[in-house]
Amino acid sequence: MSKVIVVTGANKSIGLAIVRQLLLKAPPNPRLKIYLCSRDSSRGQAALESLKGQEKGHEVVLGELDVGDESGESARRLKERLEKEDGKIDVLVSNAGVATSGPDFNREILDWTFAVNYHGTKKVIQTLLPLVEKAPEPRLVTVTSMAGFSGLIKDEKVRERFTKEDLTEEELETAIQEFKDAVSKGTWEKEGWPSSAYGMSKLSLNAYCFLLARKYPKISINTCCPGWVKTDMAPKGTKTPDQGAQTPVKLALDDLGGVTGKWWQDERVKPW
Ligand SMILES: NC(=O)c1ccc[n+]([C@@H]2O[C@H](COP(=O)([O-])OP(=O)(O)OC[C@H]3O[C@@H](n4cnc5c(N)ncnc54)[C@H](OP(=O)(O)O)[C@@H]3O)[C@@H](O)[C@H]2O)c1
Repeated sequence: MSKVIVVTGANKSIGLAIVRQLLLKAPPNPRLKIYLCSRDSSRGQAALESLKGQEKGHEVVLGELDVGDESGESARRLKERLEKEDGKIDVLVSNAGVATSGPDFNREILDWTFAVNYHGTKKVIQTLLPLVEKAPEPRLVTVTSMAGFSGLIKDEKVRERFTKEDLTEEELETAIQEFKDAVSKGTWEKEGWPSSAYGMSKLSLNAYCFLLARKYPKISINTCCPGWVKTDMAPKGTKTPDQGAQTPVKLALDDLGGVTGKWWQDERVKPW
């Protein structure tokens, strides 16, 4: 039976490099079946073509997935297909993400960024989780960022709302909503929130994954930063996409010695 790996936002940049590195690094057994997911089928198809001849006995198929689909329909369709074809997901690599290019910060930018990086990614994880639970050694690998480091929140009391050991999903959602409301009212700085839509979306995603790790001890659940990688998102980045793929690929394939609920960078656990 194949090991099924789903990679989101895999039509280019770090996501495509993750698929390429999985093919390079995975042993021949078990055979991999990788879902290269893209929100746009023609971009996904072109990415698939670019990997032709590099499969090394593994299989790469196109998966259609719009992580920003608020209705959740896109994730449900992918789940139904996987349920029929594979019955399980061994590894879900949540890589798709967005960032604005300028320093502007307002409620509109916040909503746009959170829609994919937090709410959409969370919805995809929640939808696919029942299939992940069916795998013998299941893993969730989520690409966040060093920008989502907990120290982004300078106010200790506000920070604790994301980092406390017994954080619940409801508490996390309430904190995120209060942050958004404070931005709408223009009071966020006074209330101790930072001025970063991208950083806060990734910090929130880290907090969500770590609470999931406590809730699902049988699943290996880790998050990581790929480093500063030269892509459309970060044109001045210094790493190549293949270098950026190293940590997520390690989390997907290597023996992690049971480590779960941690944030990784440069293939090592780092304090979050
Ligand atoms: N580059 C860096 O230095 C850096 C640093 C830290 C963390 N990261 C994180 O690494 C991940 C990959 O970033 P990257 O640098 O490779 O960015 P990128 O070049 O902008 O690629 C982003 C990928 O996500 C996809 N995507 C965006 N919105 C989507 C949606 N609604 N549904 C499905 N796919 C969607 C894009 O698809 P389209 O082609 O259709 O837009 C693309 O495949 C992101 O989570 C990012 O936050 C990057």
